Amino acid sequence: MQIRPFTAGDADSVSAVHRRAFGGRTDESRIVQRLHDADKAVVSLVAVENDRIVGHVLFSPTSVENRGENLKLAGLAPVGVLPENQNEGVGSLLIQYGLPECRDAGIDAVVVLGDPGYYSRFGFERASEYGLGNEYGADEGFMVKPLTEGALDDADGIVTYQPEFQQDEE
Ligand SMILES: CC(C)(COP(=O)(O)OP(=O)(O)OC[C@H]1O[C@@H](n2cnc3c(N)ncnc32)[C@H](O)[C@@H]1OP(=O)(O)O)[C@@H](O)C(=O)NCCC(=O)NCCS
Repeated sequence: MQIRPFTAGDADSVSAVHRRAFGGRTDESRIVQRLHDADKAVVSLVAVENDRIVGHVLFSPTSVENRGENLKLAGLAPVGVLPENQNEGVGSLLIQYGLPECRDAGIDAVVVLGDPGYYSRFGFERASEYGLGNEYGADEGFMVKPLTEGALDDADGIVTYQPEFQQDEE
């Protein structure tokens, strides 16, 4: 298994990974395509096995109301692994590689909306404990992981994802 940065030539395979990972739904693959097209990925990694892309993760910048530029956050979304390769550690590897790359890119903390049973293993905690809310009204499922010491000491506000997450279906 190799984890490496996404390149433009991976676009079709990555779209297929998300379509299949999410049961045929195209929302996630379109979000990924829009974020790449807009050059908004902070970190975008593929997992390759036997020359085949079997997983992909993307981190994009998020903003916090009232905090302006002070706090640099990224959202982990989406992460997808081909159904036949799930539960083999691929998603975990992508996330474990991605988090330090976000830190190296100057990100203070990463947020994620998902299953706490999965993301808590990477150190994500309930974001509301840090004063952070989200535009989707999620509570337990909205989590954050600080990447630098004291990154969230003064955090407060609603985290907003890139508009590419909200565009209407075509
Ligand atoms: C979620 C996903 C990325 C995890 O990747 P993976 O390579 O299958 O997971 P790993 O092998 O790293 O970890 C396996 C663990 O994740 C758990 N897991 C797998 N999918 C899960 C899901 N959708 N929700 C919660 N837990 C999940 C497994 O039960 C297993 O738990 P265990 O270690 O306690 O037995 C992958 O299963 C996937 O693509 N699912 C469909 C798309 C999706 O739901 N993406 C996440 C939302 S953005």
